[in-house]
Amino acid sequence: MKILVIGTGNMGSAFVQQLTRAGHKVSVTGRDSAKAAQVASRHGARALPVQGAASGNEIVILATGYAQAVDALRAATPDAGQIVVDITNPLTADYMGLTIGHTTSAAEEIARAVPNVRLVKAFNTVFAQLLAAGPDLGAGRRVTTFLAGDDAPAKEAVTAMARSMGFEVIDAGTLRNARYLEPLAGLNIYLGYGAGLGTGIAPTWVRKD
Ligand SMILES: NC(=O)c1ccc[n+]([C@@H]2O[C@H](COP(=O)([O-])OP(=O)(O)OC[C@H]3O[C@@H](n4cnc5c(N)ncnc54)[C@H](OP(=O)(O)O)[C@@H]3O)[C@@H](O)[C@H]2O)c1
Repeated sequence: MKILVIGTGNMGSAFVQQLTRAGHKVSVTGRDSAKAAQVASRHGARALPVQGAASGNEIVILATGYAQAVDALRAATPDAGQIVVDITNPLTADYMGLTIGHTTSAAEEIARAVPNVRLVKAFNTVFAQLLAAGPDLGAGRRVTTFLAGDDAPAKEAVTAMARSMGFEVIDAGTLRNARYLEPLAGLNIYLGYGAGLGTGIAPTWVRKD
């Protein structure tokens, strides 16, 4: 697939690493073009200026902070109907709380602000360190990503992309259910940093057959 990653930080660079490893044609863009070039050259991707970077990609991964997400996405000028993966968590400054929730979510707010794209919430419960290390946990176990979105073909495409990197995928319903996924990431951050379990953890769902 042809995929653009917006953001060259912890998550953006880990996505570039895993997506190129999975054989995708990856471009990366960010505010700092030298950093984008560095991330791209490290992983065999292509660095692009932000303006117009989204054009022609099957999937755009939005890997900026929530506060910058709408501006960054608009600057990349997404195509009409383009699939955009929102990985953001609307965190408070101390990372121990969420700035919005219950009646909306970061995903719904971004979708409202940029309504011509098909937004899928995913990967927000996966620490960057775990993404960079890869989702294979050994003994047949894999890291889970939860997907929430309103467009079935868009979710199928994001599912295929996630599985190509080795993730287990759980369909978490419509975009409104990002209201559940973002607090789940909050709990993951508490357990990882607050409770000291570290960044090698991730939530999943179990079922007794
Ligand atoms: N870190 C994690 O473990 C983790 C896990 C799950 C989800 N998330 C979510 O993933 C997102 C990224 O997290 P992160 O840890 O990767 O953050 P980060 O390291 O701070 O990276 C954010 C990136 O976004 C870029 N950026 C900011 N504004 C931009 C704009 N207008 N246009 C283009 N690029 C812009 C930044 O550029 P500069 O380098 O110029 O500042 C930086 O490269 C956040 O929303 C976070 O909540 C993070």
